[in-house]
Amino acid sequence: MILKTNRFLTNLLHKTQKYKYIILTALKEYLWLAKARTIWYIRWKLFNAKTHALLKNKSNFLSIYQLPKPLTADILIPKARSLIIEIGSGHGEVANLLADPNNPFCQKLNISRPYVFVTAEYTKKFYKKVAKKTKQSKHILPVYGDGYKMLKLIPQNAIDALLILFPDPWHKKRHHKRRPLNARFFIKIIPKLKPKGIIIIATDHKEYYDYILYNLKLIKHRVEIATFDYNPTSLGLPQTHYYKKWSKLGKSFYGIKITKTI
Ligand SMILES: C[S@@+](CC[C@H](N)C(=O)[O-])C[C@H]1O[C@@H](n2cnc3c(N)ncnc32)[C@H](O)[C@@H]1O
Repeated sequence: MILKTNRFLTNLLHKTQKYKYIILTALKEYLWLAKARTIWYIRWKLFNAKTHALLKNKSNFLSIYQLPKPLTADILIPKARSLIIEIGSGHGEVANLLADPNNPFCQKLNISRPYVFVTAEYTKKFYKKVAKKTKQSKHILPVYGDGYKMLKLIPQNAIDALLILFPDPWHKKRHHKRRPLNARFFIKIIPKLKPKGIIIIATDHKEYYDYILYNLKLIKHRVEIATFDYNPTSLGLPQTHYYKKWSKLGKSFYGIKITKTI
């Protein structure tokens, strides 16, 4: 009996020695992961607290890198029902209009209230101007940075309307690769629209307009594409700085409305 117990203990010791290294490494890994997870958790909490403070106190400068992920309408208004996005705020005419909850744009599109309007601008001077103008409006969020990068923070089925009014056309042939409104962009953005969600694009540049339509034909998503002579008033939108500028020069305006059908 004593001999058997002795043999068992020797075997156990031998096995423990054999697996000691593996057990210790696993334990170390586990402790390291737990530590890393705690650090990330604290950082994430601090980041969120900072973002919420920034969102609450709208006098601060807010860049796209300070936004939370996922970026949804309820980050500004807890019970928000709709999300409207603009890329290229310019002088902020759309933000000014949407500051009024009874604006004609939302009425025409039946956008449910309360809604949140996030407008991205990467020219600091313009961003500051829009941020100053809309400081009092709790449902308007001007953001500094690349609007196309910001869209990556938005989850699927979240956007009611996306406005891209007079995007830079990158008219030189060698710059065409910089055009963001290509098939790859549409493939990524359409799932982020709610069913019946829309994208409105306006441009004065016929070649860019054709380029966008060509790229839209390459995608397989279920969308309805309507083209029209862009007239902001008919959509309930304001005449923006660039619209007025090109109007004076007698330019034509091309509009594209993309509606997600399912
Ligand atoms: C031609 S202006 C049009 C401005 C305004 N939408 C209008 O209709 O008057 C283009 C604006 O978009 C901004 N912009 C261009 N690309 C952008 C991007 N990727 N992210 C944010 N803003 C952008 C530019 O800084 C500029 O103010």
